[in-house]
Amino acid sequence: MADVLSTLISEADLQARVDALGVQIDADYGGEELLLVGVLKGSFLFLADLSKRLGTNVSIDFVQTSSYGGGKSSSGVVQIRKDLDINIEGKNVLLVEDIVDTGLTLTHLRELLSVRKPKSLKVVSLLSKPEARVHKTQIEYVGFEIPNAFVVGYGLDYAERYRNLPYIAILQPE
Ligand code: IMP
Repeated sequence: MADVLSTLISEADLQARVDALGVQIDADYGGEELLLVGVLKGSFLFLADLSKRLGTNVSIDFVQTSSYGGGKSSSGVVQIRKDLDINIEGKNVLLVEDIVDTGLTLTHLRELLSVRKPKSLKVVSLLSKPEARVHKTQIEYVGFEIPNAFVVGYGLDYAERYRNLPYIAILQPE
């Protein structure tokens, strides 16, 4: 039997929302320099699409934290696997997340980045599961609030599969 995927957010709806986020973020930063920090690997498609909608004053870097280890539940431990290449002191940093679930990863990343004295630090997350939140954390821009289900696609994986889907689907494993 194969995994069952049911579409939650279509490709068209994703693209329309990324368009709107791009317009809002561009307006908020008003042409100031902006460093997008993508959280690997889940944010890669969102960051790529969002960055194409922003102006010319944009740089891009990535961090990678420990993942769920191939399963569907959090280990409760966040480790940095790959740190930034760029010094963020004095820079406007926009952290680009795929999804905020319990909030553990984002809480940790906010702390880690804020001690490096950026000029500003904000977060954009494509998806948020408010019902799953354990660690209260601020998210300045949210693409979609979704129910507390396990989703894949548009960067998000289950055991490294389904990242390439151009839409978001709820996964019911075989
Ligand atoms: P948090 O630390 O619990 O907020 O989880 C954040 C990370 O868990 C995300 O960046 C994803 O990598 C992963 N994650 C949480 N929920 C899902 C999901 O529904 N599908 C795929 N990955 C998820």
